[in-house]
Amino acid sequence: MLKGKHILLGITGSIAAYKAAVLCRLLKTAGADVQVVMTPLAKQFITPLTMATLSKNPILVEFFNPENGAWNSHVALGEWADCYLIAPATANTLAKMAHGIADNLLLTTYLSSRAPVVVAPAMDLDMFAHATTQRNLSELRQTGVHVIEPEDGELASGLSGKGRMAEPSQIVAFVDALLEEKKKNLQGKRFIVTAGATIEAIDPVRFISNHSSGKMGYAIAGELAERGADVLLVTGRTALPTPTGVTRCDILSAEEMHRAVVEAFDSADGAVMCAAVADYTPEHCADRKLKKNDDDLVIRLRRTKDIAAELGSRKGDRILVGFALETDDEEAHAREKLERKHFDFIVLNSLRDTGAGFRGDTNKVTFIDAAGSEALPLLSKREVARRIADKIEGLIQK
Ligand code: PMT
Repeated sequence: MLKGKHILLGITGSIAAYKAAVLCRLLKTAGADVQVVMTPLAKQFITPLTMATLSKNPILVEFFNPENGAWNSHVALGEWADCYLIAPATANTLAKMAHGIADNLLLTTYLSSRAPVVVAPAMDLDMFAHATTQRNLSELRQTGVHVIEPEDGELASGLSGKGRMAEPSQIVAFVDALLEEKKKNLQGKRFIVTAGATIEAIDPVRFISNHSSGKMGYAIAGELAERGADVLLVTGRTALPTPTGVTRCDILSAEEMHRAVVEAFDSADGAVMCAAVADYTPEHCADRKLKKNDDDLVIRLRRTKDIAAELGSRKGDRILVGFALETDDEEAHAREKLERKHFDFIVLNSLRDTGAGFRGDTNKVTFIDAAGSEALPLLSKREVARRIADKIEGLIQK
């Protein structure tokens, strides 16, 4: 897959820069054309001579050549690249990327490139775990940057923990999979995906809701669209950008989500029910802000319609995928929902698993169907979305 691909390899000032030599070698062996851009500090860790010899291209560090004034165009570099791979990526470079700081050639190229960007962080465990680094990584993920998680192990500092750059072979495999042309196996299929939290109004000011960010559902909608499906994303309120090629329908309440989904279901080939829908809504929504007094307040709630169950009762040969978010007795609860709502399979995530469920960029899920269950490791929500799409394709081909 990497044969003939243009890989722009960015190297920053980390002790893990020595691995960039192996990385470059592996990319070249796989048939890629590699150009290397380094931060000035990276030259202290690995020499331009080594990288130029391995990549068979001159190394770019400065904005222009001081000898003859020739400009190293970040724009041209960005346009040339099929993928911009920054490995190792230091906490400093990640912070600058997240904030649009462009004080070296590697960073100006990041801002001007339209190619997919992959970063492989490398740093000490505390730097990696620091809330600021995690916030920067989360922002980068939200702008579409692919992050290859560092590994747990011995670090240059002598400490041990999460921060070692992933192995070069793993990084190459990741880039290879990323650049693989997605086969349009879902061309001509119409899918509804629900995402995010519903909002049930108590009065014009207050509401009942939950912690769903929409990230899991948006990743699924994007993945199905990349595989050629015509996707309607029925979404609660989020700040996420609409995935490319997806039609978006914004709703607030469970009632609005019910209306939008039921209306679209007749002409759909399937639905993935990822939204966290309120099971109860206030019986009445006050038309003015409720005034407090010294008494407790009782709000009477009534059941909302179960959208998935309704689709299940008239699914025909459509594909229906459910989610189950549990906190205890997980598999039994999920299996009960699988059967009652007539899902083809259900994606179980448990709040007892670290890194699973609401808001984060990762999830740990188990696929459950009539035949059995398959537990997946902790993966990015993008990767979980890929696995769900693979399973849907499998069902269609049956
Ligand atoms: O959005 P993120 O922050 O990325 O978080 C993702 C997630 C945790 C919200 C997601 O992975 C997830 O688990 N979504 C389902 C949450 C949920 O409400 O599960 P449930 O067990 O209560 O519902 C079971 C199924 O019925 C779900 O498919 C749900 O969409 C559907 N349902 C539930 C109630 C209702 N009134 N109508 C429905 O369609």
